[in-house]
Amino acid sequence: MKGIILSGGNGTRLYPSTNIISKQLLPVYDKPMIYYPLSTLMLAGIKEVAIISTPRDLPNYQMLLGGGTSLGIEISYFEQPEPRGLADAFLVCESFIKDENVALILGDNIFYGNTKFHEIVNNFSGGAMIFGYPVQNPERYGVLDFDRDGGIKGIIEKPIQAPSNYAVPGFYLYDNTVVSRAKRLKPSERGEIEITDLNVSYLSDSSLNVQLLGRGIAWFDTGTSKSLVEASAFLESVESVQSYKIGCIEEISLRKKFINLKSFDSLLEKIPPSQYKDYLLKIRPEFSSDSNLSSSTIERLQS
Ligand code: G1P
Repeated sequence: MKGIILSGGNGTRLYPSTNIISKQLLPVYDKPMIYYPLSTLMLAGIKEVAIISTPRDLPNYQMLLGGGTSLGIEISYFEQPEPRGLADAFLVCESFIKDENVALILGDNIFYGNTKFHEIVNNFSGGAMIFGYPVQNPERYGVLDFDRDGGIKGIIEKPIQAPSNYAVPGFYLYDNTVVSRAKRLKPSERGEIEITDLNVSYLSDSSLNVQLLGRGIAWFDTGTSKSLVEASAFLESVESVQSYKIGCIEEISLRKKFINLKSFDSLLEKIPPSQYKDYLLKIRPEFSSDSNLSSSTIERLQS
């Protein structure tokens, strides 16, 4: 399965912070926001990734993440000149998707916990898979409407009166019919092709699967200043308590064996002295059989 990170839009809700920089490049606690959705894809075992952003911001993403080779993945970049809706991602990336299944993650969505996304991606066998997450303010999101037996009878985008408190987070898996479905969507009142309409198209064909995310999983849509600070505070707490970083893409590459220790060391050499580098140096011995590194190697890596 391939993966798309949608990092477009003007981020106007975060003005003036987004006046000259893309929302998904703003820091969430100790790293740029896009590290989190990228790490979600990597943890799900997805190694071919497309990043969509505006012509203004795309060069910054390229500067930040490059082609992905040093992380053992492939990253390609696609321009979306106007925010034409989330479902437009599949039109922009048609040449990237080719004949494969595809996961879409929104660049401002952060997941933490045992989501089992890797297993779900591995077992994906067609149709669409979306998720439901209980929230206190469902009116901000796409919301699941359940029938009496707990089946899904509808999904409503930003309802005035929410039919349930289950929001649909911004991580979706689709089979290869997604591109032709997206092409058939009619723009909504706000002139965008909506992801909810795409999901409803699968629902109408009885090929929409929904998995509810339970306790022990945190999900943030960091599209507002308040949610940005809430996510930062949460990540800071968990990272301090556990002393593991969340969304650390170099660590994930090594743990998932996308790269070997030698490539990890080359990555380390390029990272300037920082807490981030100290962390990577701290976890390194977990992966090394030779705990007796020569002092010159240690010095080289630390500098
Ligand atoms: C979008 C989708 C909505 C989804 C949400 C998740 O809303 O339209 O269905 O629940 O992402 O983050 P937005 O955050 O763009 O308003």
